[in-house]
Amino acid sequence: MLDRAVRIGMIGCGTQANVHFTGLKALGTDQATVAAVCDLDDERLAAACQLWPEARAAKDYRNMLAPGDLDLVIVATMPNTHEAISLASLDAGACVLCEKPFMMNVAQAEAVLAKAAATGLQVQLGTNMRYMPSSQYLHDLVQGGTIGEPVFAKAWGCHDDPPVWGPHYHLATSGGGVLASTLVHTLDLAMWVGGSPNPLTVSAATRRLFPGKRGSKVDAVIRARYDAEDLISGLVRFDNGTFYSLEGNWCSEVTNFHSFELTTTHATITGEPFAVKVDVEGEIVDQTPQLDGDDWSQSVHTQDATLIAQLRAGEPWDMQDARQLLNLQKVVDACYESARTGREVVL
Ligand SMILES: NC(=O)c1ccc[n+]([C@@H]2O[C@H](COP(=O)([O-])OP(=O)(O)OC[C@H]3O[C@@H](n4cnc5c(N)ncnc54)[C@H](O)[C@@H]3O)[C@@H](O)[C@H]2O)c1
Repeated sequence: MLDRAVRIGMIGCGTQANVHFTGLKALGTDQATVAAVCDLDDERLAAACQLWPEARAAKDYRNMLAPGDLDLVIVATMPNTHEAISLASLDAGACVLCEKPFMMNVAQAEAVLAKAAATGLQVQLGTNMRYMPSSQYLHDLVQGGTIGEPVFAKAWGCHDDPPVWGPHYHLATSGGGVLASTLVHTLDLAMWVGGSPNPLTVSAATRRLFPGKRGSKVDAVIRARYDAEDLISGLVRFDNGTFYSLEGNWCSEVTNFHSFELTTTHATITGEPFAVKVDVEGEIVDQTPQLDGDDWSQSVHTQDATLIAQLRAGEPWDMQDARQLLNLQKVVDACYESARTGREVVL
């Protein structure tokens, strides 16, 4: 229980950090205050300091993490730094909200989760789609058991252009391309809505379409560094008998970029466009309720507001547990291993 505002440190003050900043500003200083900011880049650090003039600023996160001072650190750097920053933040006594993808590999994920368990602090991944109204509705609907047992899901994550505003396409910093950076959102969502089963086997294949596609409008520096996959197809089998088909494409011509579809023994539900279609005595009946929209940035703000409210109330974060986090990382790692070896991976 905290009878004051949650004190937050933001490490990495780039594109995604600014989405968090907007939501944190809206919450008000009685609930949350950004007490420390950190970025290697002078301009980005200066912009963050303008937004949060009361925050201490550092280019090196180790100089920003005063032990015991921060309640929460938001890790909004690229994945190659997530492990070291998360471990240091936990050591300094702060809970961690880490941007996706979680870590570079399962070993790093295990190290961070072990540190969280040892310190009694909480770690959550920024899989903000779970906080969309449609996601919560579909999750509760499946758990309620009224539309049958999950059987098969498709999850896809696409863009019409590779996200080149940050080094998401450069494996040494990103740990992966379209799967780790984009598809991971709907993969997590489909697993969660489907009851969070454990993965058993994973098979995947990847390709790089860039720069043959979309390359001509991107500058030479990016073309030279681009070494991540931008096309992936995968099949995952889970211990509840379900099987998931995955697709990611950064050079896509389709327009429905991020979604999933789950088929149960009695129904098919879809995230975007939001739909609940149920078999009722042999007829397909549309049981889609009217819900408020699923705005992407709003879901990040809802995520942050929920975690902050729970910290203030002394309640545990309850959206995601360590097993789910580790399973997501295992599927991502196994997709890359399968693509590399050309063989199915047994977990
Ligand atoms: N949840 C979402 O919707 C969403 C959307 C975009 C990005 N992301 C995730 O957020 C993270 C950041 O992505 P981005 O698009 O904001 O990237 P970005 O390049 O815009 O910002 C990252 C910032 O981190 C800084 N940085 C890098 N290493 C650092 C270090 N050691 N110490 C301090 N600062 C450091 C960089 O200078 C940069 O300003 C990634 O993990 C990405 O996948 C999530």
